[in-house]
Amino acid sequence: MIKKTGSIIHINTKATSLVLNVSKTGHLVCEYYGPLIPFGEDYGYLVTKTAFPHGTEIVYDEKIPSISLEGLSMEFATSGKGDFREPSLILQSETSQVFDFMYESDEIMDDYPVLDALPLPHHVDEVLKITLVDQVQKLKAELFYGVFIDADTISRHVVLHNDSDHDLIIDKIMSLQLDMPNRDFDLINLYGAWAAENNINRRKVTNGIHINDSKTGNSSNRHNPFFMLVSEQAGLNNGVTYAFNLLYSGNHYEMIELTSYDRVRIQLGINPFLFHYRLQINGKFETPIAIMSTSTLGQNGVSQNMHHFVNHHIVKGPWANKDRPILLNNWEATYLKFNEAKLTSLISAAKDAGIELFVLDDGWFSNRNDDTKGLGDYDVNEKKLPRGLSYLADKANAKGMKFGLWFEPEMVNVNSQLYEDHPDWAIKTEGREPSLGRHQLVLDLSKFEVQAYLIEQIGSVLDSAHIEYVKWDMNRHITDFSSSSYHSGELYHRYIIGLYRVLKVLTGKYDYVLWEGCASGGNRFDLGMLCFFQQMWTSDNTDAYSRYFIQAGISLGYPLSVIGAHVSATPSHQMLRNTPLETRFHVAAFGNLGYELDLRKLDDVDFKAIREQVAYYKAHRALLQYGRFYQLTYPDCPQAIAWMVKNEASTEAIIGRFNKLQSLLVGSDVLPGFGFDETLTYHVSAHRYDHRLKMFGGLINHVAPIQVNENGPLVSFIDKHKTMEQIMKSTNEETYIVPGSALNHGGVRLRAQWAGTGYNKDVRVLGDFGSELFYIEQVKTSG
Ligand code: GLA
Repeated sequence: MIKKTGSIIHINTKATSLVLNVSKTGHLVCEYYGPLIPFGEDYGYLVTKTAFPHGTEIVYDEKIPSISLEGLSMEFATSGKGDFREPSLILQSETSQVFDFMYESDEIMDDYPVLDALPLPHHVDEVLKITLVDQVQKLKAELFYGVFIDADTISRHVVLHNDSDHDLIIDKIMSLQLDMPNRDFDLINLYGAWAAENNINRRKVTNGIHINDSKTGNSSNRHNPFFMLVSEQAGLNNGVTYAFNLLYSGNHYEMIELTSYDRVRIQLGINPFLFHYRLQINGKFETPIAIMSTSTLGQNGVSQNMHHFVNHHIVKGPWANKDRPILLNNWEATYLKFNEAKLTSLISAAKDAGIELFVLDDGWFSNRNDDTKGLGDYDVNEKKLPRGLSYLADKANAKGMKFGLWFEPEMVNVNSQLYEDHPDWAIKTEGREPSLGRHQLVLDLSKFEVQAYLIEQIGSVLDSAHIEYVKWDMNRHITDFSSSSYHSGELYHRYIIGLYRVLKVLTGKYDYVLWEGCASGGNRFDLGMLCFFQQMWTSDNTDAYSRYFIQAGISLGYPLSVIGAHVSATPSHQMLRNTPLETRFHVAAFGNLGYELDLRKLDDVDFKAIREQVAYYKAHRALLQYGRFYQLTYPDCPQAIAWMVKNEASTEAIIGRFNKLQSLLVGSDVLPGFGFDETLTYHVSAHRYDHRLKMFGGLINHVAPIQVNENGPLVSFIDKHKTMEQIMKSTNEETYIVPGSALNHGGVRLRAQWAGTGYNKDVRVLGDFGSELFYIEQVKTSG
């Protein structure tokens, strides 16, 4: 809700407030952004007091001698008039680099004006447009603030109009700038690399400039555009926290500057790196949308705001807020070596396990038998698939399953028909051999003819069979940045605009398709892509222990409903690590569950376990995909981490508890919990799993009536068919009736963990990377 009182414009969401003002100098300033404060008549308590300029500060206007721009919380800072912090705008005109924007007018609107090229969030409650002008340079900057009351989120973007009589060059233009007093902030951002995405980096915001950015051409696995600022007192569930993100899939830039006067300036926008954009006379430039949110409920509170925002205002189309199917992807099962018979038997095994969607990954087209050829061409590889895609889709459909397909549309192999026909469509620089990434080049999506080719080719594949899911991959960074169509300083941005155009057409036309974004795993996991794709492949690393961290990181800013998480084989193909099958499932259950292994190679025990996992996930799918997600521990806590999903009414929850390395230095474990209704009583039951006989090595001789060779054929045979629990006739059940208050305050003491001695039915056997899920449900009272 937006309310005007004199020069004050006050925006309130459910639990947050943004208060803007016009300073005596005529600049737009931010007086407050934080937890909710009431609308009022007198804002004297909030307005920045400027009695005198400090020492060497520049007085903006001698007629108002108390004000220096350095002392104001500017909403759109430029350089050249005394604000020596990072500017939001760096422009070059023919005459000057000094720009100065003054408040001119404001307007409240029901919706955003449509952007020419960039995606917008949907279902905004209100939009505030504030127009600023630079009278001297004849420029107009429109600042748009979108208000999302239920998500406690506010968006900001800028449209710059060139009303002057000459072209301008934009070297930097930020979507959002927020100045506010420091609260002893820590910055939390996500860094990483291929198969090691989303590591949480927490550091004090110290004096100077902190930058989180990407220069790879996509939002990147190096630094995600999402970040948080947490006040020093903030914890997981309490204290003031701020979160920010950008709806953009290219080079992004987030800057936090702590000034000598203990104020922070925050900026988000397109990365100024190599950005050099000509804005023609009468032209306009639209920035991507940035968003911000704040909460008094700690990291989880502000993360949940982000989750709500993504689920309700970013993801769209028929799949928004819908249950996501459990899939089997053939990549780690077969890589590029498959044929029709192999795939159809995988489809049958998937059906047996209860899986709902079969995804055919890379290798179905052209002469794609290894990754040096074929990208760019769309004819089906008839050697592998003589009866085409429709045969496979029909096979899956006949079993009541959906069929999905992998594409990597933005790329071309030099060894392809497309490259032979259109070598000029690849991004490269004149006079230099282009550098390859995964043996491939990037197509210049800023070119209309490239966009048209992709729309046409992908469309005809989607028309050729009943394809209800698409995995859209992108497996290299952009180098050799030149375009025959534009100045290279525009290429990165125009690439993204071209990509968005292709996606808008395809996802609009094929809106029944479930679209999953992927870029070598999480190399382009961002809100821009999520405006078109309903889910994302999080990482090529499917090792469960690595996923503790990858998923903990990404879930700070993105909801479980968009996080792709698969159970794969052990040892992990990425880490060569062995983890229990159930832990692989328990981790993947906190996301969109999939399987990515050769189900046909499993023995009875593991296949049965997978069938049970699938059934468990289906029974709790809505909670696992759309429940309110809490991290109950920090990911770096030494012993075990814990996550929770809970429904809005707090009548139902699942807690996952994940061991790191087994240690004998632990006392009794307590079940962590948070936010349960203290007037209610809950039934708590552990979803634990049976153990492989072989896990116990030579110890089986201590319980077996006869001496056996633990590595011999007898034990191997029994291990394939019977679990330890079946042999011992024990169960892993552990159930309690617990008051909500006890759940909130660590009052549930779990059974002792394995400690080297003794094994009886009361011992929790978890071991390294062992884990358990607890299902918690309100006890129904009769009447
Ligand atoms: C990327 C993806 C994988 C798989 C391969 C296929 O690495 O992230 O999931 O699709 O490409 O080449």
